[in-house]
Amino acid sequence: MDKPLVVVTRKIPEAGLVLLREKYELKVNTKDRALSADELKKIASGAHAILALLTDKINEELLAAAGHQLKVVANYAVGFDNIDLAAAKKHKVAITNTPGVLTEAVAEHTIALLMAVARRVVESDKFTRSGKYEGWEPELLLGHELKDKTIGILGLGRIGGRVAEIAARGFGMKIIYYDNGNRNKEMDASIGSESVSMRKVLTGADVISIHVPLLPSTKHLIGKQELESMKKNTILINTSRGPVIDEKALASALGKKTIAGAGIDVFEFEPQITKELLKLDNIVMTPHTASATIETRDAMAVLAAKNIIAVLEGRAPVTPV
Ligand code: DGY
Repeated sequence: MDKPLVVVTRKIPEAGLVLLREKYELKVNTKDRALSADELKKIASGAHAILALLTDKINEELLAAAGHQLKVVANYAVGFDNIDLAAAKKHKVAITNTPGVLTEAVAEHTIALLMAVARRVVESDKFTRSGKYEGWEPELLLGHELKDKTIGILGLGRIGGRVAEIAARGFGMKIIYYDNGNRNKEMDASIGSESVSMRKVLTGADVISIHVPLLPSTKHLIGKQELESMKKNTILINTSRGPVIDEKALASALGKKTIAGAGIDVFEFEPQITKELLKLDNIVMTPHTASATIETRDAMAVLAAKNIIAVLEGRAPVTPV
């Protein structure tokens, strides 16, 4: 009997591919770029499983083109806003993601962005390289200290929770959070965090870190009005999804210095970036690499492969959406 066909839409670490290769016929996109919608339809045709990236649109058209034999789409990401879940349900295709294995990497990157903005690391590096450093100065490149400052976490899932823990235990920050009114009593007891209103996070925090999924209700969660309600010393960090922030409004707030700075890993129209942001010194940007550690990308590949194997062997997926 022919082996089931597993399609991988872009090369992922070998740790996952090896598991799939042992059992299935494997077709991996060999182009060093994301596939277009048409290319995706073509490669997916006849697949029993698709290992997809967050840049692939998994919609009605793609699922129909793949065919009735398709059983599972394993997203190589914790976020799944690239997938039309209703269409997947209609086509009886299981959807899985990669929660848990990227929590540390994304939380650490969030802190990396926060430190970079607070202590002006990128600006200082440029300054030093360009030969401007002429000797120690009392007020050269002053930044912001974190100890005793308040961090407001928007969205207290695994990643938001881990950022809160690092900020409290590592930097002695006070933690407030808004998660649709939900409280995490265990965390509150262990690090003294406090569930507050969204408004209180916006108006009371010195650092705001966003960890919500992209949903119709979270698109432009942070817009002009929200930015205007923040304190002048606020540093805004986003490692969730770009469209959660109105990027034009952010550029304007940073340009007018109505907030102090931003650390941004995800963009509203990525890979395009609102051009006003590129001219600003008070923003540090990374190209959606918050989960990009060797350990995590391997673990994501293994988990996605295990999800595919489970479904194709007739078992429940490990991490279903
Ligand atoms: C995710 O997993 O959703 C990240 O954005 C990429 O790792």
